[in-house]
Amino acid sequence: MTSFKRYMITSALPYANGPIHLGHLAGAYLPGDIYARYCRLKKRDVLYICGSDEHGVPIMLRARKEGVSPQEVVDRYHTMIKKSFERFGMSFDYYGRTSAPVHHETSQEFFRTLAEKNVFVLKEEEQLYDPEAKIFLADRFVRGTCPICSYEDAYGDQCEKCGSSLSPADLINPRSAITNATPVQKKTTHWYLPLAEYQPRLEKWIETHPEWRPNVLGQIQSWFQSGLKDRAVTRDLPWGVAIPEDVARKAGVDATGKVLYVWFEAPIGYISATKEWAIQSGDPEAWKPYWQDKDTCLIHFIGKDNIVFHCIIFPMVLMAHGDYILPYNVPANEFLNLEGHKLSTSRDYAVWLDDYLEKFEPDSLRYSLASNMPETRDADFSWKDFQARHNNELADILGNFVNRTFTFVAKYFEGKIPEAASLDDLDRELLDFIKHTRESVGEALDNFQFKEATRRMMDLARFANKYFNDKAPWSTRKSAPKICATTLNLCVQTTYALAVLTNPFLPFTSRKIWKMLQLDGQPEEATWDKVGEKLLPVGHALGELHILFQKIENKVIEKEIDRLRKVQAQIQQEKQPGQISYISIEDFQKIDLRTAKIISAEAIPKAKKLLKLQVEVGNERRQLVAGLARDYSPEELVGKTVIIVANLKPAVIRGIESQGMLLAVEDNGKLSILTTEKPVASGKKVS
Ligand code: MF3
Ligand code: ZN
Repeated sequence: MTSFKRYMITSALPYANGPIHLGHLAGAYLPGDIYARYCRLKKRDVLYICGSDEHGVPIMLRARKEGVSPQEVVDRYHTMIKKSFERFGMSFDYYGRTSAPVHHETSQEFFRTLAEKNVFVLKEEEQLYDPEAKIFLADRFVRGTCPICSYEDAYGDQCEKCGSSLSPADLINPRSAITNATPVQKKTTHWYLPLAEYQPRLEKWIETHPEWRPNVLGQIQSWFQSGLKDRAVTRDLPWGVAIPEDVARKAGVDATGKVLYVWFEAPIGYISATKEWAIQSGDPEAWKPYWQDKDTCLIHFIGKDNIVFHCIIFPMVLMAHGDYILPYNVPANEFLNLEGHKLSTSRDYAVWLDDYLEKFEPDSLRYSLASNMPETRDADFSWKDFQARHNNELADILGNFVNRTFTFVAKYFEGKIPEAASLDDLDRELLDFIKHTRESVGEALDNFQFKEATRRMMDLARFANKYFNDKAPWSTRKSAPKICATTLNLCVQTTYALAVLTNPFLPFTSRKIWKMLQLDGQPEEATWDKVGEKLLPVGHALGELHILFQKIENKVIEKEIDRLRKVQAQIQQEKQPGQISYISIEDFQKIDLRTAKIISAEAIPKAKKLLKLQVEVGNERRQLVAGLARDYSPEELVGKTVIIVANLKPAVIRGIESQGMLLAVEDNGKLSILTTEKPVASGKKVS
């Protein structure tokens, strides 16, 4: 790894609209914390920053649902999230919040600078407006039918069923998420980031980072391939960072009711939080080198749903501003599933951190998540795996080694480190293995391979247990006391190494071992590179032994599994109704399904998912609007015989009348149209 003067590490700012769960931890938080802790032990100059993301529509929706103000919502969750992170051992140097005045000023300054540099494009456009609530329906404020998969509850920015990213105008039958009213079109002016114009510069920059994770580069390439589109970075919303009056005035726009788009200002929150850290540490300018000096290594830890914002949009903003460095790496993680199913926070199919901490130790979870991190593909958390990692690895390997070392020294050496005489091959092998582990764990961490690093760390405890067995000090105690003393000396040295090397992964255990070793200060003050070099002195008295890990029993784990099973059963039942509501054959016959032959197909300007089709239904002609553009080119559709619902009430989609609906099936996000197995004339009834 290139050498840097300092490290600026961030973890995605969590939305302050709900508690933290395992998915969050595995995605953006645990890897960031492990890496920051490791950097500190390497004595690198490092700052680790996070904070609450307190704006955006999800927070407003939550506030409306609870009948309280958005401020109340963010105050509550900010406090709660901050506390649960502490209990989990997160070692942020500063945990800020985007409602802080420093953040409002900093993001307004960014916006002003970009405006002064003429970076933005101003556009007046029609947008959906709720005439009852008198509010523009940005993002999640509008719901409707997904043009891709026909899910009826898609959001204006995304369909949660098929994962497509949408814009409010894509939705079929849009409705207000606030009042359920049918929105009207209303003109409004917004500032856009010219992403299309910046694409060549962004591509060039990304090309300098072939070492980034393939999943991250893959997503970036697919955004590049479809061509970056300009993005509005302002919204008509009553909650957020206000657009600076002076900028609006110069542009001749009324700033009333306009705020910065949350994804414009939230990443700037990293910078504002660093500023607050600087102010509190007594040197208000101290934030600058971390963000502006090219010798700083900037790393963003995020989940995969945040890639476009951290690898394309925020870097574009930083580029356009001109005073800032760009990230050195963005090691985004994939998703964590739970017992084989997708997490669902709204349905309570999740493991919440606070609940977890009521019953178990933070380190057990840190270990099981780190061992099974969704680095290159989605991973699955299961309580059985969690139990096995805790019992068979933490307790039986790490705990056991520390335990037998302390017990032996207490019993036969009066609790003091015995003298090491001349070393044999096996002794030297152990000392080498300690140094080797220090280097190989460090190397994996600097490559953001957390699973591998965790395994290598535990391998030292594995090796040490084997050393203890092979040396059999219980028998050399009488036959060769000097050898026995040497063995135990080296076991204590290994325990010291483990106290330091476990620290990034298992900070609580690391501190417990440190305390048992009766060392001054905390393991965080130790030096990574001295592990295996610096040895504890002969005669040093060890403290009292504490069992590091109590085994977790089956019945405790089964309770957790049971709860999740019940929640999942409920979800499944609602998906595929268990209590089928039967329909009569007459009901079915009300649906007029017909074969239709596609005569022509064409793209619809500004609707990237939709195609306009002309179909022949017997001797009739029909026009259909279908959400097929992602999976079919117009050419490959022409000539196909499809099945349509011929008596569906005509609907107007994007200003175009659709006289029927074509049947298609979605699998894994890909659409496949229904056709007939043998050639059939058009207009035939399907039954
Ligand atoms: N709140 C966002 C999420 O949870 C992440 C924001 S990251 C930031 O997905 F960079 F914008 F701060
Ligand atoms: Zn969808």
